[in-house]
Formats: sequence, structure tokens, C-alpha cells
Amino acid sequence: MQNLSQVLAASATPESLQSVLNITISTCVDISNALKKGSLAGILGMAGNENVQGEEQKKLDVISNDMLKDALLACPAVRAIASEEEDDIVPAHTDGEYLIAFDPLDGSSNIDINAMVGTIFSLYRQTGDNPATEQDFLIQGKEQVAAGYVLYGPSSMLVLTTGKGVNMFTLDPDTHTFLLTRENVQVAQDTQEFAINMSNQRFWADSMQNYVNNLVAGKNGSRNKDFNMRWVAAMVGDVHRILCRGGIFIYPWDNKDPSKPGKLRLMYEANPMAMLLEQAGGKAHTHTQRILDIQPEAIHQRVAVILGAANEVDKCLSY
Ligand code: AHG
Ligand code: MN
Ligand code: MN
Ligand code: MN
Repeated sequence: MQNLSQVLAASATPESLQSVLNITISTCVDISNALKKGSLAGILGMAGNENVQGEEQKKLDVISNDMLKDALLACPAVRAIASEEEDDIVPAHTDGEYLIAFDPLDGSSNIDINAMVGTIFSLYRQTGDNPATEQDFLIQGKEQVAAGYVLYGPSSMLVLTTGKGVNMFTLDPDTHTFLLTRENVQVAQDTQEFAINMSNQRFWADSMQNYVNNLVAGKNGSRNKDFNMRWVAAMVGDVHRILCRGGIFIYPWDNKDPSKPGKLRLMYEANPMAMLLEQAGGKAHTHTQRILDIQPEAIHQRVAVILGAANEVDKCLSY
């Protein structure tokens, strides 16, 4: 079985990009080891702070953020980082070539129940003579040079694209290396499985209510098939299921707070997952446009997300 370094070298990934990916992913191996210890290491529970978006931070949100931040700032190829848990971008090396945005721990409400969580990352190549600013990060998702996530589940898995398809790797706990276990992942165009937090139903737009009502009605409604529903409560887990066996994942606009166009964050949740889905033959949209075409306005900007099986995303958008 090929390991990650062999796969990156074989796909002619620039050495500087390989160095950023290797640092990111080896830090994820450390996060995976920390997660395994759980309560034994005293790392569960709340940190007692809020992040810039008003979310209560878990201890592990902070620990995983600090681990990635320290490792990436020390990497000469990193120009700057942006993180869910950092108010502002953090410049690293002015002559570094890569900007990396990350969600250090996605699905942190799952931590205390020992369920799936993950780390999501998105990389852009950018150079300049001055230290990076937030403005440098405001690049459309279609310019990403690499994107992926590490899922911490029964096994830890890396799912990665450098723009040449999607590969899945499984962490070998004996050697602490990621081995290629699934190549060139493809998502089926049609599906009978959907993922959405149904408890928000009354807050959605009428069109989204109609679409989901028809999924639930199955063969009794306007669709000629029945649908199954799943919700991991960690985007990383829901997207992983879609990459493995198909489906559609939706975190739509709702009127709980009309100033927010969605819950998920563009730069380190929607964009990297959209790149993975498109590379696997699926689609990723907001209610109005392709996610990878959005011109970002702020690093913590939120968007509505509809991603997965291409025909089902089209069907949803037709409402
Ligand atoms: P995070 O833990 O990084 O803040 O992200 C949580 C997100 C995402 O992972 C997931 O899909 C969604 O929140 C879950 O939302 P609900 O609380 O509505 O289930
Ligand atoms: Mn959070
Ligand atoms: Mn997240
Ligand atoms: Mn997070």
C-alpha cells in the first residue's frame, strides 16, 4: 500500500505544498492521539471562552487549534493561517507560499459523547512582499490548491484532494502513517439518503420546507422513491458518509437570525468540502450559486450549504 508521501510525490505535488500538507496531517495524527485519551488526559469539557463567532469553545477546540497553529507557523512554506478559533488571520513567513484556513475540530458537540469529529483544511498558493493580511485570504474557493479533512472515527482517515481527484487514506496506528485505501473516489449522481437538522424545519424558507417534505413523503409524494435520513452533527462525518456511499447534505438558510446566511463557515467548512465533492463528481451550492464561485468578504463568513449527489443537488435547487 502506498503511503501519503508516495502518493504526493507520484502526483507531482510541489515540495513546498507537500511540506505544508505533511505538517498539517502529522499534527492531525497528534490530535487523533490526544482524542483517544479523552477523559484520561483531562481534555474533555468546556474551555470557558467564546470564539469570535459567539460559540462556547470546548477544551479540545482550543487544544487542537493551538497544536495546528504552532506547527504551521513554524513551517517556512506557510505565509499565514486562518482558523475558526482565531479572531484574525495570523501571518507566518512573508516569503511563505501558502495560506491555510482550517477548522481545527469540526463537530465539537460530539466530543463529549465520543462520536465522530474531524479537522478540515483548505490551502491557497499566494506570494507577496508584505506580511499577509485578511484581504489575501479572500480568494474564491475554485482557487484552492488542496483541501481535505482528517476524520477521527473508529479509524482515523485522511481524505485529500490536490485537484486531481479524491483519495482516502487510513491511519496505521502502528506506524503513525496514512496509507492509501481508496483511490479516485466518485459520488453517485442519484441518492435515496439525505442529511439535514430537521429540528430547524419551521425556520427554513418555504421552498426548502417543500423540498424536504417531498423527501419525507417518499413514494407517497411527488418522488418515485423513499428516502432515508442521517445526521452525524459533524459536517466532516456527514460529508464522509456522502463520499463513501452517496447522499445529500444540507445546512440551509433559516430565519432564526436573518443576518446569517447559514451556519457553516465558507473558508474552512464549505469551500474545502465543496472542492472535495466536485473533485468526486458531486456538486456543492448555496441556494443561489456554486460555493467555489463565491467571492469571500470575511474569513468567518457563513453560507448556506447544499452538497452531494449531483442530480439531487439540482433537484433541491429546482425548488
Ligand atoms: P464546529 O463544531 O466546527 O463549530 O462545526 C459544527 C457544525 C458542523 O460540523 C455540523 O454540521 C453542524 O455544526 C451541526 O449543527 P447542529 O448543531 O445544527 O446539529
Ligand atoms: Mn465551533
Ligand atoms: Mn466545523
Ligand atoms: Mn470547529
